[in-house]
Amino acid sequence: MSHSYKDGRPTVARRLHIKTYGCQMNVYDSDRMADLMAPHGFELADAPDGADLVIINTCHIREKAGEKVYSDLGRLRPHKEAKAASGGRMLVAVAGCVAQAEGAEIMRRAPTVDIIVGPQAYHRLPEMVAQVMRGAGRALDTDFPVDSKFDHMPVPSQGTGPAAFLTIQEGCDKFCTFCVVPYTRGEEVSRPAEAIVAEARRLVAGGTVEITLLGQNVNAWHGAAPDGRGSWGLGRLIRELADLPGLARLRYTTSHPRDLDDDLIAAHRDVPQCMPFLHLPVQSGSDRILAAMNRGHDAQAYRDLVARLRQAQPDLALSSDFIVGFPGETEADFEATLALAREIGFAQAYTFKYSARPGTPASQMEGHVPEPEKERRLGLLQAAIAETQLAFNRTTVGRTLSVLMERPGRRPGQLIGRTPYMQSIHATAPQAMLGQLVEMVVESAGPNSLAGRLPDTAPGEAA
Ligand code: 5AD
Ligand code: SF4
Repeated sequence: MSHSYKDGRPTVARRLHIKTYGCQMNVYDSDRMADLMAPHGFELADAPDGADLVIINTCHIREKAGEKVYSDLGRLRPHKEAKAASGGRMLVAVAGCVAQAEGAEIMRRAPTVDIIVGPQAYHRLPEMVAQVMRGAGRALDTDFPVDSKFDHMPVPSQGTGPAAFLTIQEGCDKFCTFCVVPYTRGEEVSRPAEAIVAEARRLVAGGTVEITLLGQNVNAWHGAAPDGRGSWGLGRLIRELADLPGLARLRYTTSHPRDLDDDLIAAHRDVPQCMPFLHLPVQSGSDRILAAMNRGHDAQAYRDLVARLRQAQPDLALSSDFIVGFPGETEADFEATLALAREIGFAQAYTFKYSARPGTPASQMEGHVPEPEKERRLGLLQAAIAETQLAFNRTTVGRTLSVLMERPGRRPGQLIGRTPYMQSIHATAPQAMLGQLVEMVVESAGPNSLAGRLPDTAPGEAA
């Protein structure tokens, strides 16, 4: 049996298994929960077998999110029973947005569950675990506290790798009519600049060269300025972070077109570390649908914004989210979306069929589009985006790009990295280059990735 140390005293190690669904924000939160439990002797385990604590960190965006949780819980039951049969105890916690939205219902339906913890209450997890362990009953916390959970979260453990995430903002108050996030993650909360800079400094000291700033609505970030006077916007924060020696790349996601201010646009022009790639969801190209979605801008405003961004940074690649088959979407509305997608020429995009989320205004709207029609529109949009994506990838062939080598490739001797434009690129390269930024010549382009070679190797050597 392995041991960990608390206050210099060895304690018996306990096993913690976390299953994470959904966005990068959830991945970040899962890491923080692991950090929170580590001082209490919990070590991460890859599988639920024999675990003392299992956390399911859920995502509410995708379809049938609730059902997935129940089937996961069903699969955990035998593990929990086996643990009990051997005289131990396995606690099961449900975290994340489904916990927030349906926590009380999950408690009622699934006796396997000991703890329900919403995204704003993670810092209370150790206390909740202790409560259940001492037999004081099951624990549920899905409050939105006035004090920010950021103030209670532990300092992230080091060694997160060459490319790391850093959450700077949570929540959203845009209330797009299709979306559950404002209900599950609550209002917009920004972390103070000083805490962000300190975390970035620690990441860089641990070997990180690229940081992606995260937030549900990241460019709405307005954190307290370090001197305590007023607040900063994201453009200002990016300039500050760019001054950290060793931090070569900065990205941020996800942005709302309405919150992209002049200073942030200027940062794309002025700050070399600010990567020429922006995920800027548009959702639809039809003014009627954009209005019904409560996006707060029309298609022309999006075009104008992209034009201003490209003026500031002509080399900018764009990515987006689209929803097809929103209630009331006609063929003409959909054609407008197709036209916008082609016109902007997205370097990549995520496409979704509209799916009704309980409690959202859109779910109550008239004119739900039949499933086969949604399917057809999705196929057409995906084909259009595949074209613009391949076209973009081809524009990089022959160029020498700086690539962050992130992981080993499928074939021996191969590494996979990312270009400034988020393209995945593979090349034959020494293992020692892992974690480094290297110059790479782009040899060929496929729809989803590039092949490259180191400049000092002969053309055609790339796999
Ligand atoms: N139906 C389909 N797609 C959705 N998204 C969010 N809610 C829904 C929904 N109800 C998509 C949006 C958002 C992305 C993260 O998920 O495009 O930008
Ligand atoms: Fe949801 Fe994004 Fe709209 Fe906020 S801005 S409500 S997170 S889709």
